[in-house]
Amino acid sequence: MNLAMQHIPVMAQEVLEYLKLSPSSVVLDLTVGAAGHFTYVAEAIGNPEKMIGVDRDLMCITEAKKKFPSSTLIHGSWTQALTELEKRLPEVQGVLMDCGVSSMQLDHASRGFSFRFDAPLDMRMDTTQAISAQNWLSSVDEQTLANTLFHLADERRSRRIAKSIVEKRRKNQLHTTFDLVQAVEDAVGPKRGKTHPATKTFQAVRMAVNEELIEIEKTLQALIQKLSHGARIVVITFHSIEDRLVKNIFRDAKQNKQLRLLHKKAVRPQREEYLLNQRARSATIRAVEIVKI
Ligand SMILES: C[S@@+](CC[C@H](N)C(=O)[O-])C[C@H]1O[C@@H](n2cnc3c(N)ncnc32)[C@H](O)[C@@H]1O
Repeated sequence: MNLAMQHIPVMAQEVLEYLKLSPSSVVLDLTVGAAGHFTYVAEAIGNPEKMIGVDRDLMCITEAKKKFPSSTLIHGSWTQALTELEKRLPEVQGVLMDCGVSSMQLDHASRGFSFRFDAPLDMRMDTTQAISAQNWLSSVDEQTLANTLFHLADERRSRRIAKSIVEKRRKNQLHTTFDLVQAVEDAVGPKRGKTHPATKTFQAVRMAVNEELIEIEKTLQALIQKLSHGARIVVITFHSIEDRLVKNIFRDAKQNKQLRLLHKKAVRPQREEYLLNQRARSATIRAVEIVKI
């Protein structure tokens, strides 16, 4: 299967512009996915040997290894990979983080990321990880669940939804994605407008299961500490909660004179791009350059 065919990399021109690469650049792509950006960057520097790729989804790394056998490709979370890469970080000149799930993960019914398909409640980006959505939902208490829905997805109806999920669990009726959709609909009613009522619940559970905000925070902090003067970090996020976290980390590091921001306002896609690629509609780029005095 040609995975890259199904996936259009978001804001690829802007990514290349902010990474400001030269043929000698060593680039770390922390989100290989379908290798969309990876391919653009490898072509821009003209040397796949200078590319390091990371993904916690083994399928992505396996496919990327077939296409880029001379690149360094690591299966694992960012925090695991950064420990492994510690010695190489000072030579890295560009880092890309294209956050969140890939369209492949969303479209692969059995992965359980989407409320469009009925599947076991999995949602692990790394299928070798122990805790799935089913495990997490079977042990989380109602208060923590409500807080998670509110904090990770801005779900205003978090308490009602958490109560309904816990009720379904108590009746042993919470096993599949459609069971989770039903729990949300029992609490807030069926779809009325454009957005499905389970959208935010699925986002929050996925983010909790994969510890997405913790990964972003620890990884950016480590990169800011360990990259060399002049190295650049480009982050693409897809919702305001991720973007706010990235913005605050960069703002604090700027105040500590650890980096400079490469733009005033966050960078958003051109209209032409999001008309062609629906996924680009919610994308935001933040880019910085490391300063070592
Ligand atoms: C939006 S997709 C990347 C798409 C890619 N840029 C492309 O153009 O094909 C995000 C990818 O990052 C991976 N990912 C997300 N968070 C991760 C983390 N903390 N550690 C490792 N990989 C992660 C996901 O498994 C997914 O494959």
